[in-house]
Amino acid sequence: MSTVVLIGGQWGDEGKGKVTDFLAEQAAMVVRYQGGNNAGHTVVANGQEFKLHLIPSGILYAGKPCLIGNGVVLDPEVFIQELEGLESRGIKTDHLRISPRAQVIMPYHQKLDACEEKRRGASKIGTTGRGIGPAYMDKAARVGIRMADLIDPEEFGPKLKNILANKNELLQKFYNEEGFDYGDIYKKYTEYGKRLAGYVEDVSIIIDEGIKKGQHILFEGAQGTLLDLDHGTYPYVTSSHPVAAGACLGAGLGPTRISKVVAVAKAYITRVGEGPFPTELKDELGDYLRQRGHEYGTTTGRPRRCGWFDGVVARYATRINGLDYLAITKLDVLTGLDKLLVCTGYSYRGKLLTEFPSTLKILDECQPIYEEMPGWQEDITTVQNYGELPENARAYLDRISEVSGVPIAIIGVGPGREQTLVLKNPLE
Ligand code: IMP
Repeated sequence: MSTVVLIGGQWGDEGKGKVTDFLAEQAAMVVRYQGGNNAGHTVVANGQEFKLHLIPSGILYAGKPCLIGNGVVLDPEVFIQELEGLESRGIKTDHLRISPRAQVIMPYHQKLDACEEKRRGASKIGTTGRGIGPAYMDKAARVGIRMADLIDPEEFGPKLKNILANKNELLQKFYNEEGFDYGDIYKKYTEYGKRLAGYVEDVSIIIDEGIKKGQHILFEGAQGTLLDLDHGTYPYVTSSHPVAAGACLGAGLGPTRISKVVAVAKAYITRVGEGPFPTELKDELGDYLRQRGHEYGTTTGRPRRCGWFDGVVARYATRINGLDYLAITKLDVLTGLDKLLVCTGYSYRGKLLTEFPSTLKILDECQPIYEEMPGWQEDITTVQNYGELPENARAYLDRISEVSGVPIAIIGVGPGREQTLVLKNPLE
């Protein structure tokens, strides 16, 4: 039995979808435990491209149970669109289950997300605008609507009435915006509830049964360590817990049940939205990586900011998540560059920092300290094993592993399932 938590080791968009998809083949079930449709996975399977926001990429394997844990915030409208999109391409979704404890993203959450970003002006977070923060705010305030409520009109009606009065007052009096009509939302969302009722089941029990049977279980994180509400570059973070510990809270299992933690990290690094980014390349090289790596958000289409691999971030991810392995993606994007830089530390007011700082004030003043490595020119997209990689590519991987303090288990050399080199299978 192996329960593997796969998380993002950077600022999200590390290519977790591809690695999840690859590992999902051997897992008995795939579980999502935090975030919502702020995430976006692009998976290429059998030559077809699938863009998924909420549904775990394991869905592409026929009959594989895919679970959505209590830690997720679920937008029923988007979820139903995603279901229908998959079904129209012949993918069955009857093995999908949603926790009754998962929170529901309501239309007022999206509106409040937009209002608050506008109000913040220059200090906006750069959210995805999907209502994620406001939905988690309601959860913490204990006024959120959960999936169990959505599918039960007797619970849903009074809860919606109560919370909507509060939200409408906030929208009208504070943000100077129009409120929502109770009847409209009630009608639309009870229909969504009917459509989704058959998928709702306590996923913590399904996971526990899987563990007792000795099955392989894959927990699929969304976003990344540096976007974690507690451990990320606060306040430029998301409102959930993308770190490995989030899997326990967000799926309903204890930490002693986790066997391995793997972080996915790009061979370089990207960030979307606002916030500090020490190794950012604001020059043509940054534009080059963006073009070559197709670095545009799956969810919002926004261009991603690109930079050199940051070893301080990677070491931090190793500590915070208790990493066993790294999965390095998009190594092929670096092919053709004469030299590569790896950040090994930060310089702060003339001092060397080797650990990631806890305040933005310090981080803002940090300058990356780089080590230069020679690049490689050979095409690596058809390479089948580690030994076939050019010597300089191997040296680069070895160095980023050393700087991160964790071995590399998986290497991505292209977008396809087959373009994956496995040094160590974390599920074994
Ligand atoms: P929110 O999650 O929409 O509230 O956005 C908060 C921050 O997290 C913003 O900087 C977003 O760009 C970032 N973010 C949220 N989801 C993702 C993701 O899946 N990939 C990368 N960045 C994300």
